Amino acid sequence: MPNKNTSTVFTYIKGYIEPFKLKVALAIISVFMSANAVLSGGYSLHLFVNEGMQQHSFYEIPLIWMSLSILFLALASFGRSYYASWIAIRVSHVLRQKLFEKMLHLDVNFFESANTSDLVKKLTENLSMLEHYLGKDVSVLLRNILLFCGSTTMMILSTPWLLAQTLLVVCVFIFPLIILARYIKKITTKSQEKKVALTHILDEVIHGIKTVQAFTKENFFITSFQKHNTQSFNAAEKYIFSKSIFAFIIIILTACFIAIIAYFGLQKINANELSHGQLVSFIYFSIVLAASLGSFPELVSKTKAINSVLVALKELEEQTSALAHPENIKNLPIKSRGIVAIHNVSFSYPTHSNHKVLENITLSLAPGEKLAIVGPSGAGKTTLFSILLRFYDPQAGTIHFEGVDLKDLSLTELRKSIAIVPQEPDLFFMSIYENIAYGNPDASESVIEEAIEMLKLNDVFNKLPHGRNTLVGNKGARLSTGQKQRISMARALIKQPRLLLLDEATSNLDALSEKVIQNALKQIMARCSSITIAHRLNTILSSDAIAVMENGAIRAIGTHADLVVKDDLYRKLVSLQFKNQKYG
Ligand SMILES: Nc1ncnc2c1ncn2[C@@H]1O[C@H](COP(=O)(O)OP(=O)(O)OP(=O)(O)O)[C@@H](O)[C@H]1O
Ligand SMILES: [Mg+2]
Repeated sequence: MPNKNTSTVFTYIKGYIEPFKLKVALAIISVFMSANAVLSGGYSLHLFVNEGMQQHSFYEIPLIWMSLSILFLALASFGRSYYASWIAIRVSHVLRQKLFEKMLHLDVNFFESANTSDLVKKLTENLSMLEHYLGKDVSVLLRNILLFCGSTTMMILSTPWLLAQTLLVVCVFIFPLIILARYIKKITTKSQEKKVALTHILDEVIHGIKTVQAFTKENFFITSFQKHNTQSFNAAEKYIFSKSIFAFIIIILTACFIAIIAYFGLQKINANELSHGQLVSFIYFSIVLAASLGSFPELVSKTKAINSVLVALKELEEQTSALAHPENIKNLPIKSRGIVAIHNVSFSYPTHSNHKVLENITLSLAPGEKLAIVGPSGAGKTTLFSILLRFYDPQAGTIHFEGVDLKDLSLTELRKSIAIVPQEPDLFFMSIYENIAYGNPDASESVIEEAIEMLKLNDVFNKLPHGRNTLVGNKGARLSTGQKQRISMARALIKQPRLLLLDEATSNLDALSEKVIQNALKQIMARCSSITIAHRLNTILSSDAIAVMENGAIRAIGTHADLVVKDDLYRKLVSLQFKNQKYG
């Protein structure tokens, strides 16, 4: 993580706090009030001992003073806790929303390069840490600074010579604390690192549980989890031990400290140079000073940790999409049916920039035309769809949609006009019906019903416990892949797109379902242009044109009849398929 300047990151968070100036002012006033109440406790003790106990008179005054101080402290504590916590939860709420929105508009490459558990951590754990820091630690830090300064001032004003003797002891007092605080900071970082490793394993297991179980890798993951879990426990044990030692040392040092003050103070009382009240209040201020001083190492280390959290959040907020935003946005013509012109496009994935996945691709699609793409696995077919949806920009060549350069269109308008049925259907944790409606929030009920009818989805609904309202489970886990493909297709249809992209959309369907879908597709394809990637050639025989792709290039294009004559690879694919059908 880059070590950004502390003031820079705190200026960053200041921008989020500024809108709540009034509440910030009330929180600060409460902190001052609370510090003041603690400090006035020393004066109360002074009065209590000198006036109340020794002169046996005016004892009401110290008692009233003491009660008022406590009341004042209670009020201030309420204000400090309420206003600081309010600001904290509000800032984290605003920041969480903003970062989430920001993240959703970043380019696909960002997500492919980022570590997902790290991203999730930023929006959850890191924001919780910030919330805790702003809600509690900042006000405690400010209060303790005030208490430190206030108690020192009171001690200087009442008995400077006793303070001078005390300070010599304080120097001894601080030294071991600094060493221990540094050690605690080191093991805190270690303990957190161990927890991150655990999150990675959890993430992998939860997302790939079927693969883990199918390959009987349970023991492998259990051993790995146990190793990291034990390391995490050991680090945490060291942390709590040193924290407890820290508290122990502070108490011992405070006791020594008070004994020393009492020793010097009693000598002065016997010499009539100090009153009892002065000594008691001095001891009180010493305890306040020791307590505030003792809290600094932990608060400083928390401040440093928050600095790193803010650096990470700021980095995410400043992340920009690799896709340049058009300076002058052009709109799509109102009436058109999906004209596509791809010219000399070459592309490499940003993560593998020396491997050309697409090379000099030139393709065009007239309104309503049906183009099919075939080719071996890894040829670059899906990548071509990703380029059309502008998930990535090609390094060379141009793409026009409805006559407009993709780079001049807003991403929203482009993606609203194109529907894709992906190779691996992606369903969300909602009901089946919601998963379909998700395709287009503006779609009328009749459009959704038409898609359901076209794809005969009522047959799927009838087999489920709550029909169309059945929750599909995590990523659609409660449905078969073929069912997911049909839902994914209905989702695409209700977009009423200008261009339909089908990526192996019928690869997991049985013969009957495929027939239903082919009929549905026939009707839909009459309304828009389409590009179909298919391994099963019988699904694309009626296409207007078929492009054969190999190693990122288009090696031939034509109708089925043309290609059987002129392209070896296509002929091979056809003969293999024929063989499969014969024996399949
Ligand atoms: N996100 C990615 N980052 C880096 N390389 C990728 C990425 N996606 C695909 N590739 C690589 O790009 C090449 C083309 O992949 P693509 O998915 O386009 O092939 P495909 O023709 O659709 O194959 P299939 O028929 O198996 O679906 C492959 O070599 C693949 O490893
Ligand atoms: Mg593919």
